[in-house]
Amino acid sequence: MNVLRFSDLCSQGKARGQRVFIRADLNVPQDDSGAITEDTRIRASVPCIQMALDAGAAVMVTSHLGRPTEGEFKPEDSLAPVARRLGELLGREVPLVANWVDGVTVAPGQVVLLENCRVNKGEKKNNPELAQKLAALCDIFVHDAFGTAHRAEGTTYGIAQYAKVACAGPLLAAEIDAITKALAQPKRPLVAIVAGSKVSTKLSILEALAKNVDQLIVGGGIANTFMLAAGLKIGKSLAEADLVGEARKVIDAMKARGADVPIPTDVVTAKTFAADAPATVKAATDVDDDDLILDIGPQTAARLAAQLKAAGTIVWNGPVGVFEFPAFEGGTRAIAHAIAESSAFSIAGGGDTLAAIAKYGIEKDVGYISTGGGAFLEVLEGKTLPAFEILQKRAAG
Ligand code: 3PG
Repeated sequence: MNVLRFSDLCSQGKARGQRVFIRADLNVPQDDSGAITEDTRIRASVPCIQMALDAGAAVMVTSHLGRPTEGEFKPEDSLAPVARRLGELLGREVPLVANWVDGVTVAPGQVVLLENCRVNKGEKKNNPELAQKLAALCDIFVHDAFGTAHRAEGTTYGIAQYAKVACAGPLLAAEIDAITKALAQPKRPLVAIVAGSKVSTKLSILEALAKNVDQLIVGGGIANTFMLAAGLKIGKSLAEADLVGEARKVIDAMKARGADVPIPTDVVTAKTFAADAPATVKAATDVDDDDLILDIGPQTAARLAAQLKAAGTIVWNGPVGVFEFPAFEGGTRAIAHAIAESSAFSIAGGGDTLAAIAKYGIEKDVGYISTGGGAFLEVLEGKTLPAFEILQKRAAG
């Protein structure tokens, strides 16, 4: 993807003494007291900020936090906890600046965090006047917020339209590179795992991947709908009967390309959805009317694991069973270990997937773990994200 890269500007000395505005995604989960419960996105944003400081720039960083009402700042919207954590990670104080749209004082070698950008009026709808003011704050705009790359807002799109220079930060660039490697120039076979509770939320992803991948592994409630499409009974399992036709179309589209949607041959069932519900392994043809399918069975898991080990590229979004319950985690654990052991390039994204990766301790064995939630899903849908679109346009002049 042809975008200007901040790392190149820095190594060419072009950031020295410049005012650099970094849009990061520091939208991290917090508990009721406001304490940060998971800081991956803050840690992932540090290299860009450090790069700008090392290059001798005057550094402004901003992010959204949650979905506040524009023009109505509330204490819980504040990036103050993020500023503290960022300060710890950078080993220096990070001053937090409020009401910053009309001007920011920052000197080369300094970094400031600009308060929640979504509180600014006009941010969400990318108001052109706001965007021009944002652009006027800096010499170089750096988009490093992959998690927000699917939004065309003031700090993610408008500023890139008007800034003197607009480029991709190292995190955004790494995401672009990993996505290109996995989906645009994949080493084959390309295997995708798409799991989750509903086909309806991931139908466009399934349709897009059905045109590209060699094996499309479905899991969770999605797999149940595909089992119905394959003529199997699923008892009272979660499924969307009205989408069986769409599932059938995905299976047929894959077949027509000589590709495959592996349907489970065995499953793990229970009579109730509970961690202590007795688990029964049975053939996929033997599911009773009062059964709930809560995981794939060991035979299916072994077959999928073999496919993953033989893959050239793996894209993973979603656990294949209720992996939070020990009795129903076997399928997801087998998939996770197979991905870890595979020599394939793997890319994973999505909240539940990241939780599974952490649970099985395979962080170091996954080729790339995306920081995107909705952004990662839109990439899988084959959409060009607004961030990539505008940065490519600016790179083309
Ligand atoms: C996310 O959490 O997925 C990103 O920070 C984007 O947040 P949004 O859905 O509120 O735009």
